[in-house]
Amino acid sequence: GFTPRVFSGVQPSGGLTLGNYLGAIKRFVEMQEQGLETIYCMVDLHAITVWQDPAKLSHATRELCAGFIAAGIDPERSILFNQSRVPEHAQLAWIFNCVARMGWMKRMTQWKDKAGKNQEEASLGLFAYPALMAADILVYHATHVPVGEDQTQHLELTRDIAAKFNHDYGVEFFPLTESVIEGAATRVMSLRDGTRKMSKSDPSDMSRINMTDDADTIAQKIRKARTDPEPLPSDHAGLAERAEARNLVNIYAALAEMEVEQVLAEHGGKQFSAFKPALAELAVETLAPVSAEMARLMEAPGEIDAILDRGTERARAIAAPILKRTYEIVGM
Ligand code: ADP
Ligand code: NA
Repeated sequence: GFTPRVFSGVQPSGGLTLGNYLGAIKRFVEMQEQGLETIYCMVDLHAITVWQDPAKLSHATRELCAGFIAAGIDPERSILFNQSRVPEHAQLAWIFNCVARMGWMKRMTQWKDKAGKNQEEASLGLFAYPALMAADILVYHATHVPVGEDQTQHLELTRDIAAKFNHDYGVEFFPLTESVIEGAATRVMSLRDGTRKMSKSDPSDMSRINMTDDADTIAQKIRKARTDPEPLPSDHAGLAERAEARNLVNIYAALAEMEVEQVLAEHGGKQFSAFKPALAELAVETLAPVSAEMARLMEAPGEIDAILDRGTERARAIAAPILKRTYEIVGM
Protein backbone atom coordinates (compact mmCIF):
# COMPACT_ATOMS: atom_id res chain seq x y z
CA GLY A 1 0.00 0.00 0.00
CA PHE A 2 0.91 3.63 -0.39
CA THR A 3 1.08 6.08 2.51
CA PRO A 4 -1.72 8.67 2.24
CA ARG A 5 -0.34 11.83 0.67
CA VAL A 6 -2.29 14.78 -0.71
CA PHE A 7 -1.22 16.84 -3.72
CA SER A 8 -2.97 19.61 -5.63
CA GLY A 9 -2.18 22.68 -7.70
CA VAL A 10 -3.63 25.93 -8.98
CA GLN A 11 -2.54 27.81 -12.11
CA PRO A 12 -1.09 31.31 -11.72
CA SER A 13 -2.91 32.34 -14.88
CA GLY A 14 -4.72 35.29 -13.34
CA GLY A 15 -6.14 36.37 -10.01
CA LEU A 16 -7.72 33.79 -7.71
CA THR A 17 -11.49 33.44 -7.99
CA LEU A 18 -14.16 32.47 -5.51
CA GLY A 19 -14.36 29.19 -7.49
CA ASN A 20 -10.71 28.41 -6.81
CA TYR A 21 -11.13 29.39 -3.17
CA LEU A 22 -14.26 27.37 -2.41
CA GLY A 23 -13.62 24.48 -4.82
CA ALA A 24 -9.93 24.05 -4.11
CA ILE A 25 -7.95 26.14 -1.63
CA LYS A 26 -10.44 26.07 1.24
CA ARG A 27 -10.50 22.30 0.90
CA PHE A 28 -6.70 22.12 0.75
CA VAL A 29 -6.72 23.80 4.15
CA GLU A 30 -9.25 21.28 5.50
CA MET A 31 -7.01 18.38 4.45
CA GLN A 32 -4.03 20.05 6.08
CA GLU A 33 -6.10 20.44 9.26
CA GLN A 34 -6.86 16.71 9.18
CA GLY A 35 -3.14 16.17 9.77
CA LEU A 36 -2.50 14.62 6.35
CA GLU A 37 0.78 15.11 4.51
CA THR A 38 -0.14 17.89 2.07
CA ILE A 39 1.75 19.22 -0.95
CA TYR A 40 0.41 22.27 -2.80
CA CYS A 41 1.81 23.85 -5.88
CA MET A 42 1.53 26.91 -8.09
CA VAL A 43 1.47 25.24 -11.51
CA ASP A 44 3.16 27.82 -13.70
CA LEU A 45 4.14 25.23 -16.34
CA HIS A 46 0.43 24.64 -16.87
CA ALA A 47 -0.32 28.36 -17.03
CA ILE A 48 1.96 28.86 -20.05
CA THR A 49 0.07 26.31 -22.16
CA VAL A 50 -1.76 29.47 -23.19
CA TRP A 51 0.13 32.76 -23.62
CA GLN A 52 1.06 34.53 -20.39
CA ASP A 53 2.70 37.92 -20.25
CA PRO A 54 5.96 37.27 -18.30
CA ALA A 55 5.55 40.15 -15.83
CA LYS A 56 1.95 39.15 -15.17
CA LEU A 57 2.91 35.50 -14.71
CA SER A 58 5.43 36.25 -11.99
CA HIS A 59 3.02 38.64 -10.29
CA ALA A 60 0.21 36.07 -10.43
CA THR A 61 2.50 33.38 -9.00
CA ARG A 62 3.34 35.56 -6.02
CA GLU A 63 -0.28 36.55 -5.54
CA LEU A 64 -1.37 32.93 -5.68
CA CYS A 65 1.19 32.02 -3.04
CA ALA A 66 -0.10 34.88 -0.88
CA GLY A 67 -3.63 33.56 -1.46
CA PHE A 68 -2.70 30.07 -0.31
CA ILE A 69 -1.14 31.38 2.88
CA ALA A 70 -3.86 33.94 3.58
CA ALA A 71 -6.50 31.23 3.21
CA GLY A 72 -4.79 29.14 5.86
CA ILE A 73 -2.12 26.99 4.21
CA ASP A 74 0.63 26.77 6.80
CA PRO A 75 4.01 26.47 5.04
CA GLU A 76 5.34 24.53 8.00
CA ARG A 77 2.71 21.83 7.83
CA SER A 78 2.14 21.86 4.07
CA ILE A 79 4.77 21.91 1.35
CA LEU A 80 4.12 25.00 -0.79
CA PHE A 81 6.15 25.71 -3.91
CA ASN A 82 6.28 26.70 -7.54
CA GLN A 83 6.13 23.86 -10.09
CA SER A 84 8.85 25.10 -12.46
CA ARG A 85 11.38 25.12 -9.63
CA VAL A 86 11.07 21.36 -9.19
CA PRO A 87 12.34 20.02 -12.53
CA GLU A 88 11.28 16.46 -11.69
CA HIS A 89 7.70 17.37 -12.72
CA ALA A 90 8.70 18.10 -16.32
CA GLN A 91 11.11 15.16 -16.40
CA LEU A 92 8.48 12.65 -15.32
CA ALA A 93 6.00 14.30 -17.70
CA TRP A 94 8.22 13.32 -20.63
CA ILE A 95 8.11 9.66 -19.54
CA PHE A 96 4.32 9.96 -19.29
CA ASN A 97 4.12 11.56 -22.74
CA CYS A 98 5.54 8.25 -23.92
CA VAL A 99 3.06 6.21 -21.86
CA ALA A 100 -0.16 8.11 -22.63
CA ARG A 101 -1.86 7.41 -25.97
CA MET A 102 -2.91 10.07 -28.49
CA GLY A 103 -6.47 8.74 -28.39
CA TRP A 104 -6.68 9.25 -24.62
CA MET A 105 -5.54 12.85 -24.89
CA LYS A 106 -7.89 13.67 -27.76
CA ARG A 107 -10.85 12.65 -25.62
CA MET A 108 -10.08 15.23 -22.91
CA THR A 109 -12.99 17.66 -22.78
CA GLN A 110 -10.83 20.47 -21.36
CA TRP A 111 -8.56 20.19 -24.41
CA LYS A 112 -11.57 20.34 -26.71
CA ASP A 113 -13.02 23.32 -24.82
CA LYS A 114 -9.81 25.30 -24.55
CA ALA A 115 -8.51 24.61 -28.06
CA GLY A 116 -11.98 25.25 -29.49
CA LYS A 117 -12.36 25.13 -33.26
CA ASN A 118 -8.79 26.15 -33.79
CA GLN A 119 -6.91 23.03 -32.66
CA GLU A 120 -4.16 23.55 -35.24
CA GLU A 121 -3.22 26.82 -33.55
CA ALA A 122 -3.29 25.49 -29.95
CA SER A 123 0.06 24.80 -28.29
CA LEU A 124 1.40 21.27 -28.07
CA GLY A 125 1.66 21.94 -24.33
CA LEU A 126 -2.08 22.49 -24.05
CA PHE A 127 -2.63 19.07 -25.61
CA ALA A 128 -0.04 17.38 -23.36
CA TYR A 129 -1.20 19.22 -20.21
CA PRO A 130 -2.94 16.21 -18.60
CA ALA A 131 0.26 14.12 -18.82
CA LEU A 132 2.12 16.87 -16.97
CA MET A 133 -0.68 16.93 -14.42
CA ALA A 134 -0.29 13.17 -13.95
CA ALA A 135 3.43 13.75 -13.37
CA ASP A 136 2.70 16.53 -10.83
CA ILE A 137 0.69 14.05 -8.81
CA LEU A 138 2.65 10.85 -9.31
CA VAL A 139 6.12 12.32 -8.79
CA TYR A 140 5.05 12.43 -5.12
CA HIS A 141 3.19 9.10 -5.19
CA ALA A 142 0.21 11.17 -4.07
CA THR A 143 -2.82 9.08 -3.18
CA HIS A 144 -5.45 11.84 -2.94
CA VAL A 145 -6.05 14.98 -4.99
CA PRO A 146 -8.63 17.54 -3.84
CA VAL A 147 -10.01 19.27 -6.95
CA GLY A 148 -13.12 20.81 -8.44
CA GLU A 149 -15.44 18.74 -10.63
CA ASP A 150 -13.81 20.02 -13.84
CA GLN A 151 -10.75 17.88 -13.08
CA THR A 152 -12.51 14.49 -12.83
CA GLN A 153 -11.46 13.38 -16.30
CA HIS A 154 -7.83 14.41 -15.77
CA LEU A 155 -7.72 12.32 -12.60
CA GLU A 156 -9.09 9.33 -14.51
CA LEU A 157 -6.35 9.84 -17.06
CA THR A 158 -3.78 10.00 -14.25
CA ARG A 159 -4.94 6.56 -13.10
CA ASP A 160 -4.82 5.25 -16.68
CA ILE A 161 -1.24 6.46 -17.05
CA ALA A 162 -0.20 4.96 -13.70
CA ALA A 163 -1.86 1.65 -14.55
CA LYS A 164 -0.30 1.47 -18.02
CA PHE A 165 3.15 2.32 -16.68
CA ASN A 166 2.81 -0.33 -13.95
CA HIS A 167 1.55 -2.86 -16.48
CA ASP A 168 4.08 -2.12 -19.25
CA TYR A 169 7.05 -2.33 -16.88
CA GLY A 170 5.64 -5.10 -14.67
CA VAL A 171 5.83 -3.08 -11.46
CA GLU A 172 3.45 -1.77 -8.80
CA PHE A 173 5.26 1.53 -8.68
CA PHE A 174 2.69 4.30 -9.11
CA PRO A 175 -0.48 4.49 -6.97
CA LEU A 176 -3.92 4.76 -8.57
CA THR A 177 -4.65 8.21 -7.20
CA GLU A 178 -8.16 9.18 -6.11
CA SER A 179 -9.75 12.56 -6.66
CA VAL A 180 -11.46 14.12 -3.66
CA ILE A 181 -14.42 16.15 -4.92
CA GLU A 182 -16.58 17.15 -1.97
CA GLY A 183 -18.77 19.93 -0.64
CA ALA A 184 -21.30 22.39 -2.04
CA ALA A 185 -18.79 24.21 -4.24
CA THR A 186 -17.27 21.53 -6.46
CA ARG A 187 -18.39 23.55 -9.49
CA VAL A 188 -18.99 27.25 -8.91
CA MET A 189 -20.58 28.68 -12.04
CA SER A 190 -20.09 31.99 -13.80
CA LEU A 191 -22.30 34.79 -12.43
CA ARG A 192 -23.20 35.74 -16.02
CA ASP A 193 -23.89 32.30 -17.49
CA GLY A 194 -25.14 29.34 -15.48
CA THR A 195 -23.73 26.86 -18.02
CA ARG A 196 -20.07 27.89 -17.64
CA LYS A 197 -17.81 27.46 -14.64
CA MET A 198 -16.44 30.53 -12.92
CA SER A 199 -12.85 30.85 -14.13
CA LYS A 200 -9.97 33.26 -13.77
CA SER A 201 -9.46 32.99 -17.51
CA ASP A 202 -13.02 34.10 -18.41
CA PRO A 203 -12.72 37.39 -20.34
CA SER A 204 -15.63 38.95 -18.40
CA ASP A 205 -14.66 40.22 -14.97
CA MET A 206 -18.35 40.43 -14.01
CA SER A 207 -18.54 36.63 -14.38
CA ARG A 208 -16.44 36.00 -11.30
CA ILE A 209 -15.61 37.20 -7.84
CA ASN A 210 -11.88 37.73 -7.45
CA MET A 211 -10.26 37.22 -4.06
CA THR A 212 -8.89 40.75 -4.34
CA ASP A 213 -12.23 42.43 -5.17
CA ASP A 214 -13.28 45.09 -2.64
CA ALA A 215 -16.61 44.97 -0.81
CA ASP A 216 -18.43 47.28 -3.24
CA THR A 217 -17.27 45.29 -6.25
CA ILE A 218 -18.36 42.00 -4.69
CA ALA A 219 -21.78 43.44 -3.82
CA GLN A 220 -22.19 44.86 -7.33
CA LYS A 221 -21.24 41.59 -9.04
CA ILE A 222 -23.69 39.62 -6.90
CA ARG A 223 -26.43 42.18 -7.45
CA LYS A 224 -25.93 41.91 -11.21
CA ALA A 225 -25.62 38.10 -11.21
CA ARG A 226 -28.08 36.48 -13.62
CA THR A 227 -31.08 34.82 -11.98
CA ASP A 228 -34.60 33.83 -12.93
CA PRO A 229 -37.66 35.78 -11.68
CA GLU A 230 -38.92 33.06 -9.28
CA PRO A 231 -38.35 33.24 -5.52
CA LEU A 232 -35.99 30.73 -3.87
CA PRO A 233 -37.51 27.24 -3.48
CA SER A 234 -37.83 25.69 -0.06
CA ASP A 235 -35.96 22.50 -0.92
CA HIS A 236 -33.22 21.04 -3.09
CA ALA A 237 -35.58 19.57 -5.69
CA GLY A 238 -36.82 23.07 -6.51
CA LEU A 239 -33.35 24.01 -7.81
CA ALA A 240 -33.23 21.25 -10.40
CA GLU A 241 -33.88 23.28 -13.57
CA ARG A 242 -32.51 26.54 -12.18
CA ALA A 243 -28.75 26.64 -12.75
CA GLU A 244 -28.26 30.29 -11.72
CA ALA A 245 -30.35 29.99 -8.57
CA ARG A 246 -28.63 26.74 -7.64
CA ASN A 247 -25.24 28.37 -8.10
CA LEU A 248 -25.96 31.26 -5.73
CA VAL A 249 -27.39 28.89 -3.12
CA ASN A 250 -24.36 26.59 -3.43
CA ILE A 251 -22.03 29.55 -3.00
CA TYR A 252 -23.95 30.64 0.08
CA ALA A 253 -23.81 27.13 1.55
CA ALA A 254 -20.07 26.78 0.94
CA LEU A 255 -19.28 30.21 2.40
CA ALA A 256 -21.49 29.68 5.45
CA GLU A 257 -20.37 26.04 5.83
CA MET A 258 -24.01 24.98 5.80
CA GLU A 259 -25.92 22.25 3.97
CA VAL A 260 -27.89 23.45 0.93
CA GLU A 261 -31.10 22.22 2.63
CA GLN A 262 -30.33 24.40 5.64
CA VAL A 263 -29.82 27.47 3.44
CA LEU A 264 -33.15 26.83 1.72
CA ALA A 265 -34.91 26.26 5.03
CA GLU A 266 -33.75 29.72 6.04
CA HIS A 267 -34.14 31.60 2.76
CA GLY A 268 -36.78 29.61 0.82
CA GLY A 269 -39.60 31.86 -0.43
CA LYS A 270 -37.42 34.97 -0.58
CA GLN A 271 -36.93 36.95 -3.78
CA PHE A 272 -33.39 37.29 -5.11
CA SER A 273 -33.62 41.00 -4.36
CA ALA A 274 -33.57 39.97 -0.69
CA PHE A 275 -31.25 36.94 -0.92
CA LYS A 276 -28.52 38.64 -2.94
CA PRO A 277 -27.66 41.27 -0.30
CA ALA A 278 -27.44 38.51 2.33
CA LEU A 279 -25.11 36.55 0.05
CA ALA A 280 -23.01 39.65 -0.66
CA GLU A 281 -22.65 40.38 3.03
CA LEU A 282 -21.59 36.81 3.73
CA ALA A 283 -19.09 36.85 0.85
CA VAL A 284 -17.55 40.12 1.96
CA GLU A 285 -17.36 38.98 5.58
CA THR A 286 -15.63 35.73 4.56
CA LEU A 287 -13.29 37.09 1.91
CA ALA A 288 -12.24 40.40 3.52
CA PRO A 289 -9.81 38.91 6.07
CA VAL A 290 -8.29 36.66 3.39
CA SER A 291 -7.79 39.50 0.92
CA ALA A 292 -6.39 41.80 3.63
CA GLU A 293 -3.80 39.17 4.53
CA MET A 294 -3.02 38.65 0.83
CA ALA A 295 -2.41 42.38 0.47
CA ARG A 296 -0.10 42.36 3.50
CA LEU A 297 1.91 39.44 2.10
CA MET A 298 2.18 41.11 -1.30
CA GLU A 299 4.00 43.93 0.48
CA ALA A 300 6.45 41.39 1.94
CA PRO A 301 7.90 39.62 -1.12
CA GLY A 302 10.89 38.42 0.91
CA GLU A 303 8.58 36.42 3.12
CA ILE A 304 6.98 34.72 0.11
CA ASP A 305 10.34 33.98 -1.53
CA ALA A 306 11.67 32.35 1.64
CA ILE A 307 8.59 30.16 1.91
CA LEU A 308 8.90 29.08 -1.73
CA ASP A 309 12.63 28.34 -1.41
CA ARG A 310 12.00 26.08 1.54
CA GLY A 311 9.00 24.45 -0.16
CA THR A 312 11.08 23.74 -3.27
CA GLU A 313 13.72 21.95 -1.20
CA ARG A 314 11.17 19.84 0.63
CA ALA A 315 9.32 18.97 -2.59
CA ARG A 316 12.53 17.93 -4.35
CA ALA A 317 13.52 15.73 -1.43
CA ILE A 318 10.42 13.61 -2.17
CA ALA A 319 10.32 13.90 -5.96
CA ALA A 320 13.99 13.26 -6.82
CA PRO A 321 14.18 9.67 -5.49
CA ILE A 322 10.85 8.77 -7.15
CA LEU A 323 12.07 10.12 -10.51
CA LYS A 324 15.40 8.31 -10.09
CA ARG A 325 13.61 5.02 -9.46
CA THR A 326 11.33 5.67 -12.47
CA TYR A 327 14.37 6.11 -14.72
CA GLU A 328 15.82 2.85 -13.40
CA ILE A 329 12.56 1.01 -14.07
CA VAL A 330 12.53 2.39 -17.63
CA GLY A 331 16.15 1.31 -18.11
CA MET A 332 17.82 4.71 -18.03
P1 ADP B 1 -9.14 28.29 -13.32
O1 ADP B 1 -10.14 27.58 -14.17
O2 ADP B 1 -9.78 29.34 -12.46
O3 ADP B 1 -7.95 28.75 -14.08
P2 ADP B 1 -7.42 26.15 -12.28
O4 ADP B 1 -7.45 25.41 -13.58
O5 ADP B 1 -6.15 26.76 -11.87
O6 ADP B 1 -8.61 27.23 -12.25
O7 ADP B 1 -7.94 25.17 -11.15
C1 ADP B 1 -7.43 25.16 -9.83
C2 ADP B 1 -8.35 24.36 -8.94
O8 ADP B 1 -9.54 25.11 -8.73
C3 ADP B 1 -8.79 23.02 -9.54
O9 ADP B 1 -8.89 22.07 -8.49
C4 ADP B 1 -10.13 23.32 -10.10
O10 ADP B 1 -10.94 22.16 -10.17
C5 ADP B 1 -10.66 24.32 -9.08
N1 ADP B 1 -11.65 25.20 -9.67
C6 ADP B 1 -11.43 26.07 -10.69
N2 ADP B 1 -12.55 26.71 -11.00
C7 ADP B 1 -13.51 26.22 -10.18
C8 ADP B 1 -14.90 26.48 -10.02
N3 ADP B 1 -15.50 27.38 -10.77
N4 ADP B 1 -15.57 25.80 -9.06
C9 ADP B 1 -14.96 24.89 -8.28
N5 ADP B 1 -13.65 24.60 -8.39
C10 ADP B 1 -12.93 25.25 -9.32
NA1 NA C 1 -8.71 25.57 -15.46
